[in-house]
Amino acid sequence: MRFFIALEFATLAAATLSHRQPFTNSTNKIKCPLIFDGRIPSNLTLSSFDDASTSPYNPGFVKGENRTWSSILLLPNISASPSRFDSSSLHKPIEVTIDSASLFRPGSRLQTGFRRAGLLLKDDANDVGADAADNGTVTFHWSIKQDLTRPLNLSHEYMNVWHEKADYSGNQFTFVGGVVLVGDGGNGVDTWEERESWKVQNGKNEFVFRTPILFGAWQNFGVQLDHGNNTIQVYYSAGNAPLEAVTGSLPNENAGGGQLQVGIAKKPTETQTVVWDGYQEPISERGEGQIYGSIFVEDSSNGCVSL
Ligand SMILES: *[C@@H]1O[C@H](CO)[C@@H](O)[C@H](O)[C@H]1NC(C)=O
Ligand SMILES: *[C@@H]1O[C@H](CO)[C@@H](O)[C@H](O)[C@H]1NC(C)=O
Ligand SMILES: *[C@@H]1O[C@H](CO)[C@@H](O)[C@H](O)[C@H]1NC(C)=O
Ligand SMILES: *[C@@H]1O[C@H](CO)[C@@H](O)[C@H](O)[C@H]1NC(C)=O
Ligand SMILES: *[C@@H]1O[C@H](CO)[C@@H](O)[C@H](O)[C@H]1NC(C)=O
Ligand SMILES: *[C@@H]1O[C@H](CO)[C@@H](O)[C@H](O)[C@H]1NC(C)=O
Ligand SMILES: *[C@@H]1O[C@H](CO)[C@@H](O)[C@H](O)[C@H]1NC(C)=O
Repeated sequence: MRFFIALEFATLAAATLSHRQPFTNSTNKIKCPLIFDGRIPSNLTLSSFDDASTSPYNPGFVKGENRTWSSILLLPNISASPSRFDSSSLHKPIEVTIDSASLFRPGSRLQTGFRRAGLLLKDDANDVGADAADNGTVTFHWSIKQDLTRPLNLSHEYMNVWHEKADYSGNQFTFVGGVVLVGDGGNGVDTWEERESWKVQNGKNEFVFRTPILFGAWQNFGVQLDHGNNTIQVYYSAGNAPLEAVTGSLPNENAGGGQLQVGIAKKPTETQTVVWDGYQEPISERGEGQIYGSIFVEDSSNGCVSL
């Protein structure tokens, strides 16, 4: 059986939908109408992420209790080599970190199994198919880079990007790294190949794409969901290369609406429930980090996809 993350929000403020903004700037590599723009404007500071009026993300979720986003995020000084859909003059990358106290309390009970911090786009309402990203054909984009001074312990499963159904009963897709637990679609076997690879899972947690983790370059992912035809298609490139389709249009269950989450959810090893028990070694004082850039969701209804 699948152990879901079960956010169990009591309330999550329903946000207004952002207007789609068709781009006409030919130097901008985003070619399709934007549904949500999660790219980080270069004038933001860490404290901008604690304030809904300045952050592209929800300042309240999903993070360790007693923590603020300004204490979780870092602004790595690597804007000189931006990810593919960021512009060095307009955007900058962001790093999500976790430590031993990155414990989320969705209700009365602390999720002691996970170490987690996940960004939610502030306009991405947790509804069933009413917002534009849960409708038509959409492509979810993100780029990642590794911080060699804050490495992940890839003997664990890292669930770093996913689109979770509004009722928390599953995900339409999941992007994971490291050794994926038995029960969550992996074999739980700690081999080099499992540790050092990213995998994209479909709605049944089957791996539809895998690629080695690169430790010195950006890696760019696009996951396209066609809600009308119930299909999933994965796009990928390394460095600054244009994305390429790396799967066909595969059958997938895309119903259920919900939200995109981008960050780190480190799962335990030796666990029964994943959420409440298991082994987590102490994390060093520097923390573990994952650098992101080029986060956006675009409307691919007319066959458009930014490469
Ligand atoms: C087009 O976009 C680039 C970066 O995306 C920016 O530097 C430039 O100023 C923009 N040009 C116009 C005319 O908006
Ligand atoms: C960043 O710049 C934009 C546009 O120039 C401005 O609207 C916004 O208030 C600035 N944000 C911060 C946090 O300074
Ligand atoms: C958050 O703070 C409260 C009050 O000090 C404390 O009881 C709780 O253990 C803290 N939570 C974590 C995860 O450290
Ligand atoms: C960022 O890195 C550049 C070199 O790549 C350096 O010149 C600059 O001083 C750094 N800025 C900060 C704030 O550390
Ligand atoms: C969903 O898609 C349909 C058909 O493409 C469109 O008429 C409707 O306005 C869309 N709804 C939202 C919330 O975007
Ligand atoms: C990485 O995780 C494994 C499995 O929990 C653990 O045995 C190992 O000690 C950890 N390594 C480090 C460097 O913390
Ligand atoms: C289903 O996919 C086809 C192309 O394969 C496309 O023409 C059609 O518009 C899609 N239908 C819906 C409802 O999205």
